[in-house]
Amino acid sequence: MSKSPHSAPVLTDLRDQWWSADFLQLLVERLALGECQSIADIGSGQGHWGQLLLRLLSGSATLQGVDRESEWVQRAQERADSLGLGSRCSYQQGAAETLPFADEQFDMVTCQTLLMHVADPKQVLQEMIRILRPGGRLLLLEPNNVAQQMIADSVNRALSAEQLAGVFSLFVTCSRGRAALGRGDDCIGDLLPTLLSDLALEDMRVFQNERVHCIQPPYSAADRDELQQSANHAENKFWLWDKEDAKALFEAGGGDPNTFADCYQAFERRTELFAEQVEAQTYASNNASLHYVVCATRPLCR
Ligand SMILES: C[S@@+](CC[C@H](N)C(=O)[O-])C[C@H]1O[C@@H](n2cnc3c(N)ncnc32)[C@H](O)[C@@H]1O
Repeated sequence: MSKSPHSAPVLTDLRDQWWSADFLQLLVERLALGECQSIADIGSGQGHWGQLLLRLLSGSATLQGVDRESEWVQRAQERADSLGLGSRCSYQQGAAETLPFADEQFDMVTCQTLLMHVADPKQVLQEMIRILRPGGRLLLLEPNNVAQQMIADSVNRALSAEQLAGVFSLFVTCSRGRAALGRGDDCIGDLLPTLLSDLALEDMRVFQNERVHCIQPPYSAADRDELQQSANHAENKFWLWDKEDAKALFEAGGGDPNTFADCYQAFERRTELFAEQVEAQTYASNNASLHYVVCATRPLCR
């Protein structure tokens, strides 16, 4: 059976709902991104983020995307064509660690939920800065998924404090394990300013996504799409639902192997409860997104 491309379960058009149009417009104005004419989108996936951004920039701005998955490269181009952006977008296969571009080529280099997947985010950041012209803007959109999960679960009164502690212990320890095994850091959004502090950039600014997709019964069609995506993650064993993998991550993260079974059981109970509550239409959440926007400028002279 062929392996599905990276992030397949989450590369859906729900990504277009992650940011409100007026918030993005405000960012473009505050960060003066409207002047950027050449943009590189690294880890471009099916093109969702770069194409959303490009539509807010000048009609003469162009975008080049890079992704290591050939299937996503093809889909991103098809998607750009279908949105009428085909002549302004081009995509190619490549690795974020060795980008297929000359030095100082772009006015803006951006990525969304790429750095959370790479073994060495600092190396990728250096490579992104290499292709940025002096005065160009680095625009990074990365989450802290561990904290986001904890926020949503913290108000689930059907779980005892001990069960929640078990769930949180599993999240934090497995996330550390993922980073230790070179599979990326789910908390990267909160680590970016420190990572960037050594990279000789200036004018760093950090914002947080203001989007909240409040889910309350009776569920709207959009609520159902969000809830279905979460249910699909469990079914596809995406993230921690593969118990063997979760155990390996837990141990790599320094977890006590004797506590894994209890933590995992609490996590399974949480997952069952979620399904039961959705079925009974009692599940409610602010569904807040803990997703950061970090922007910095490459200095004109070093
Ligand atoms: C979660 S997706 C994000 C896609 C897109 N940025 C978006 O927000 O819709 C992460 C993407 O990064 C790509 N990726 C992961 N590691 C990579 C690497 N080392 N070099 C290039 N692409 C990579 C994956 O193939 C995937 O398409």
